[in-house]
Amino acid sequence: MSERVVILGGTSGIGLAAAELLLTRGNEVWIAGRDEERLERALKALDVPAAKGRTVDATDEERLAAFFAEVGPFDHLVVTLTANGGVTSLADLTASELRRHHEGKLIPHLLAVKAALGTLREDGSVTLVGAISSQLSAAGLLVLASANAAVETASRILAAELAPRRVNAVSPGVIDTPWWDWVPEAARTETVAGAAAGTAVGRPGRPEEVAHAIAFLVENTYTTGVVLPVDGGARLGVQRG
Ligand SMILES: NC(=O)c1ccc[n+]([C@@H]2O[C@H](COP(=O)([O-])OP(=O)(O)OC[C@H]3O[C@@H](n4cnc5c(N)ncnc54)[C@H](OP(=O)(O)O)[C@@H]3O)[C@@H](O)[C@H]2O)c1
Repeated sequence: MSERVVILGGTSGIGLAAAELLLTRGNEVWIAGRDEERLERALKALDVPAAKGRTVDATDEERLAAFFAEVGPFDHLVVTLTANGGVTSLADLTASELRRHHEGKLIPHLLAVKAALGTLREDGSVTLVGAISSQLSAAGLLVLASANAAVETASRILAAELAPRRVNAVSPGVIDTPWWDWVPEAARTETVAGAAAGTAVGRPGRPEEVAHAIAFLVENTYTTGVVLPVDGGARLGVQRG
């Protein structure tokens, strides 16, 4: 059955992969991000009439309201947006970095869900994206982990508050996407591989692998209040020799 899906953050990485998969399953998919060129590139890559897109900054409540008014009634909301970076020790932490990261992740996630409520189907779904950092205790993850833990906790609370709408989250491990572009080019491959070295499967994940989990949460009409890890076993503390 064709349904209408909105993916805020759908112009890149995990969101774009989710758009691609949900389109192949016969849905109409609206993607949104802030950057016009990125949006155009994504729509060109998707290259089907059922893929629609608009520029939206999800920290802007007026823009969110106008966007959802234009989309009209819809069935599923997926939020895959974030600020990048956010790795710092407490000693080096600045208030502006703390604000930048929470304003880049928790705040737009919650504003997006709130803005969607007027037009999101009563028995539709919301899927948010946290991160495995929420479960880890490594030095330097304070800001990143706290923003993602907040999103994951929010998903469970919203599952209770917005019922019968379903609300879930995925919790990805290290996924090779443009999110890592904040790492200097020369160090990027090594950094991504290094960050994935503690996984049981021994490699970074692919955006398509997280998209597969998102599609499951969108489609499974009896799953709600779940935070689904898609992390190659990063939580298991496996030390590869
Ligand atoms: N990649 C990883 O290793 C990893 C690991 C764990 C969790 N995650 C999580 O997975 C989600 C997707 O990340 P990704 O790796 O796919 O990152 P990505 O490739 O950088 O994509 C992020 C998307 O969000 C959009 N975006 C950012 N801020 C926005 C805003 N205020 N309003 C609207 N759109 C906004 C970006 O477009 P514009 O910049 O044009 O706005 C882009 O489309 C994020 O929540 C991230 O925290 C990623």
